[in-house]
Amino acid sequence: MIGTTTALKDDPALTNRLWQGAQPVRIAIDTELRVPLSYKLYDRSVRTIIFNTHKQQEEDNLLFYKLERDHSFVPQMLQALYQLNIQSVLVEGGTKLLQSFIDGGVWDETRIITNTDMLIQEGLNAPALSNASLIKKETYLNDSIHYYLNLSLTINSLLPAE
Ligand SMILES: NC(=O)c1ccc[n+]([C@@H]2O[C@H](COP(=O)([O-])OP(=O)(O)OC[C@H]3O[C@@H](n4cnc5c(N)ncnc54)[C@H](OP(=O)(O)O)[C@@H]3O)[C@@H](O)[C@H]2O)c1
Repeated sequence: MIGTTTALKDDPALTNRLWQGAQPVRIAIDTELRVPLSYKLYDRSVRTIIFNTHKQQEEDNLLFYKLERDHSFVPQMLQALYQLNIQSVLVEGGTKLLQSFIDGGVWDETRIITNTDMLIQEGLNAPALSNASLIKKETYLNDSIHYYLNLSLTINSLLPAE
């Protein structure tokens, strides 16, 4: 899943191209439908869901899912994905979209990849992670991957059910 600005700036394909396995469902939030239909998200190559506030419409493997403006978008999107039987979502960015999931406490695992050689002069700040517990660190060449779990979910899962 990606935010509108990432869709507009990067025009990502969001397909599985360099590894075996199934194609993920592509998901974007584009409340005002600003992403041009000529962009890769709309190439119809894999199932794609566009959360927006204008229309509910399904054609082939492209679903426009209408959100209500007077309610928070993240809970609406999660409810919709649950109803569509999508129970695992990789939120790929950018910062605003990631921050809204972090602030809403609706995440299980975060992976932060840092690179010791790459320096981005005028990049965006990464989102601010909170309530996170580092569980693992791996290094591949110049990349370090830190794995975090959501501390509140971890604690809650240890408590006896009421
Ligand atoms: N380093 C990485 O791993 C990585 C990964 C992905 C992207 N990026 C970079 O991140 C940059 C974009 O990040 P960004 O933070 O500016 O933008 P973004 O998160 O991609 O998109 C932000 C826009 O998406 C919509 N949106 C996001 N979350 C929403 C929410 N919870 N509710 C309603 N609308 C929501 C809003 O659109 P409206 O303004 O239309 O309401 C918002 O302005 C790009 O330059 C991209 O290249 C980096």
